[in-house]
Amino acid sequence: MIRQIAPPDILEVLKIEYSCFKYPYPPSLINFLYANFRETFLVAEVGEIAGYVIGISDDKEGHIISIAVKENHRNLGIGKALMDGIIENFKNKEISYVKLEVRESNTRAITFYKRLGFTKKELIPTYYEDGEGAYILVKNLG
Ligand SMILES: CC(C)(COP(=O)(O)OP(=O)(O)OC[C@H]1O[C@@H](n2cnc3c(N)ncnc32)[C@H](O)[C@@H]1OP(=O)(O)O)[C@@H](O)C(=O)NCCC(=O)NCCS
Repeated sequence: MIRQIAPPDILEVLKIEYSCFKYPYPPSLINFLYANFRETFLVAEVGEIAGYVIGISDDKEGHIISIAVKENHRNLGIGKALMDGIIENFKNKEISYVKLEVRESNTRAITFYKRLGFTKKELIPTYYEDGEGAYILVKNLG
């Protein structure tokens, strides 16, 4: 059910990105991430593409760039399965910690990440283009 992205999935990922976020990442960025980081670009397939997670990494740090699950597939554990999958990939690359940014107002996602063992590191004011701040959340993989 959780697998690496394949070319035919990209359009579906873009549809989910545009339906889930007020300020979605542009197709050019999603294509760039597909071209350069597909090992840590995973999709959840449940009859259809239900969600995706995109990560990038260097030698020691993993960074979750985006995660979204289609509204009609939420609260079924798909988000957790995607996060478990990408964290397993990061561990295989011997990465020691993961970070991500989340909007201050996105309490649902913050609760979700905390349950997965992420903790708040700092708040960056006016991080997003509309002026909202971002919490940096981190999780050690050691
Ligand atoms: C955040 C997001 C990815 C979570 O995806 P999801 O598939 O709903 O996540 P899960 O189902 O694994 O977990 C969600 C909740 O469902 C609950 N849940 C999981 N499996 C369940 C099940 N079988 N039955 C009932 N509840 C369940 C979990 O307890 C969890 O609760 P929590 O959020 O309080 O921890 C999703 O809400 C989303 O796409 N949001 C919009 C995009 C977004 O904000 N992305 C994050 C940007 S930083």
